[in-house]
Amino acid sequence: MIRLAHITDPHLPLAGARPGELASKRILGWLSWRLRRWRNHRREVLDLVMADIAASGARHVALSGDLTNIATRAEFAKARKWLTGIAGPGKLTFVPGNHDCYVADAAQAGLASLAPWMTGVAEEKSLPEFPTVRYLGNVALIGVNSSYPAPWGEASGRVGGKQLKALAGLLTSCAAKGLCRVVLIHHPPLAELATKPRKALKDADALKDILKTHGAEAVLYGHNHLWAHDALETATGRAHLLAAPSASMATGRSRPPGGWQMLRISRAQGVWNITVERRGLSGDGEGVVPLETLRLSSRD
Ligand SMILES: [Fe+2]
Ligand SMILES: [Fe+2]
Repeated sequence: MIRLAHITDPHLPLAGARPGELASKRILGWLSWRLRRWRNHRREVLDLVMADIAASGARHVALSGDLTNIATRAEFAKARKWLTGIAGPGKLTFVPGNHDCYVADAAQAGLASLAPWMTGVAEEKSLPEFPTVRYLGNVALIGVNSSYPAPWGEASGRVGGKQLKALAGLLTSCAAKGLCRVVLIHHPPLAELATKPRKALKDADALKDILKTHGAEAVLYGHNHLWAHDALETATGRAHLLAAPSASMATGRSRPPGGWQMLRISRAQGVWNITVERRGLSGDGEGVVPLETLRLSSRD
């Protein structure tokens, strides 16, 4: 049995911006943080969630993006320091979110410095080709990058034809090896799971076709800052689409308070069983408590 922890959207508190960095779409995100979002995303909440994961015995942490807010140099330096304190690249897999690719210079601003946690290779210095894959026992954790520098006013995502084609091949080859395929992506994988069209994955329909044709056992995503579970029938069985709220969300906001989910993945008689334990901030904001447990299977 593999224990895999999923967190998403930590949105580490804004760490400052150079004047030149704000001469772009970043100015909107900077204002939004100053006016509103600093009340939502709280470091003390994130610290409680991460302490709960550390005590859980999870073998690996899957992080589905939005570590930063406006992708500045200072934010990436802070994100790298935070990741280093949480887990080495061999114990945590990260895929970028739209906030980590807020503007076209995000890679030069420092997104590439997080590459070791995308690939598992400590020396990695440039953004890898996606999809990435990590093998955790009989689980293949497949990282898909849905981030791109979206136009002003949008928080959309895009996977792209080249990555979709590679994903199709990877899903098929991992199934042939008898592996449980867990896809990690920031944006909701289906168009109908987006909260607004301007926040959706632009090629969601193409991704859905790939998932239905080649199959997957689970898709872990974020972006909506909401808990969600949906099932997608595929050619190889049932794929479970699982989302969690922002790991740093305070109580009393318009989205659920910070939480995370533990997947316990096992196989019996040719069927993958995934038990999902959801945990989140208590009402008083003092600790992390169990919320619900889902018992899922790749077959009925
Ligand atoms: Fe987010
Ligand atoms: Fe997002």
